[in-house]
Amino acid sequence: MIFKQVSKVNTQYDVIVPCRKGQLEHLQQFITIKDPDFNGEFSTVQMLYGAEGNRVYLLGLGEEKDAVKVDEAFRKLSFDHKKYWKAPVQVVTADLSEAELQKAIIGLEMSAYEIGTFKSKKEETKAITFEMVSDKDITATLQEAQAIAETINRIKTLVDAPANQKTPEFLGQWAEDSAKASDYKCTVLHEKELKAQGFHAVMAVGQGSVNPPVVIVTEYMPKKDSAVDIGLVGKGITFDTGGLSIKPSTNLHYMKSDMGGAAVVLGVVELVAKLKLNVNIVGVVASAENAVDSNSYRPGDVIDSYSGKTIEIIDTDAEGRLVLADGLSYIIKAFQPKQVIDLATLTGSVVQTLGYTAAGMFTNNTEMSQGLSKIGFDTNERVWPLPLFADYEADLHSDIADLRNYSGKPVAGAITAAKFLEAFTDGHKAWVHLDIAGVSFGDSPYSKMKSASGYGVQLITNYIKEFAGN
Ligand code: BES
Ligand code: ZN
Ligand code: ZN
Repeated sequence: MIFKQVSKVNTQYDVIVPCRKGQLEHLQQFITIKDPDFNGEFSTVQMLYGAEGNRVYLLGLGEEKDAVKVDEAFRKLSFDHKKYWKAPVQVVTADLSEAELQKAIIGLEMSAYEIGTFKSKKEETKAITFEMVSDKDITATLQEAQAIAETINRIKTLVDAPANQKTPEFLGQWAEDSAKASDYKCTVLHEKELKAQGFHAVMAVGQGSVNPPVVIVTEYMPKKDSAVDIGLVGKGITFDTGGLSIKPSTNLHYMKSDMGGAAVVLGVVELVAKLKLNVNIVGVVASAENAVDSNSYRPGDVIDSYSGKTIEIIDTDAEGRLVLADGLSYIIKAFQPKQVIDLATLTGSVVQTLGYTAAGMFTNNTEMSQGLSKIGFDTNERVWPLPLFADYEADLHSDIADLRNYSGKPVAGAITAAKFLEAFTDGHKAWVHLDIAGVSFGDSPYSKMKSASGYGVQLITNYIKEFAGN
């Protein structure tokens, strides 16, 4: 999409007129009737023809509580109607706050996302020009919002990509290309280096696949001072069969999305670099394919890890915590970041607990928890706290190794997974784990099957912007 700023409405063009519920007084300049069949309810649209035969879209913004999801209203309107748009479409922005304007642009840009990448006959795509009508200078908001939404669309493409194309090496190449384009550093550790450096848990998870594992290390360090403000770690399982503890086949195809955490980390580092935020950030993606093979790791195996702790494997389907364990130990040892956040589609348990509405958040750091909760509400990418009580440690006891990867009991699964990760944070005082299994990928009005949501990019980028720079 192309966004421009103009100062006046051109009554010949199609125009989107956002309206708050019950506040329709300003419509008279755009439409010829007094009482349109419309009251501004959230995400409702009434299309009327204006005096010059142009289309006038009345777009309901709803009430104050709906302000955080204004992007959805714009996205839906544009997605449903863009096929009719030829000339520029104007958007009246006078009544939008700055945050709402940003969301409006994000929504419009997100409507450009095409899920049918692999169709031999693609739907006709065309870039639409949106003229944002404003008498203030909104150039900075336009550029920032567009960068955010383009990044979201890029990471959705990754999460929706099929696992036969999206191998760990493919993710590494994606990161290298992104680093070149957006000017940050990227190092991909391939199998040999992983072995040499002791990423034993990543190697164990990946050993059953013909597609070798990688660890991707991205660094954006614009400050003079070399201290790392924030380190991000993402689970990058490009396909999760469950391994020998094999998953049932129903919905197994959706396990291509088990790299949703990795996608957020890759997207955030790219976006922070594009926006040139003054913050030193390192992103680590631990990526492997959890496959079934004669060479796969087994339940009952004892494996080593980057930290030196040994792990008894109870269930090979609890693989995400293993690759993250190495990612966390590595980022903390190699970079000593002031804050660490990991993101992972880690457990079915968090979906049982919080559904598709919020990510599970685990931390002992009140400041980070409050910061992420606030940004979560503002971006409508919500998080909700779950406990890390010491009582759960007993579930990770192993008779033969330092710890085991699963309690064997179908209770508190998201919490015991988080407790497992905590054991690899070396007591870091500012660590947060986000279990995004329920929010990263799911039902959508824009596809018939489940698809990527783009969750996390705004949450983490805005958190970094507000809370990690100093
Ligand atoms: N990738 C899954 C978690 C998941 C489930 C993500 C549903 C998205 C949607 C993870 O690796 C997994 O299999 N977790 C198991 C752990 C169990 C075996 C201890 C789970 O949560 O069932
Ligand atoms: Zn699994
Ligand atoms: Zn998994």
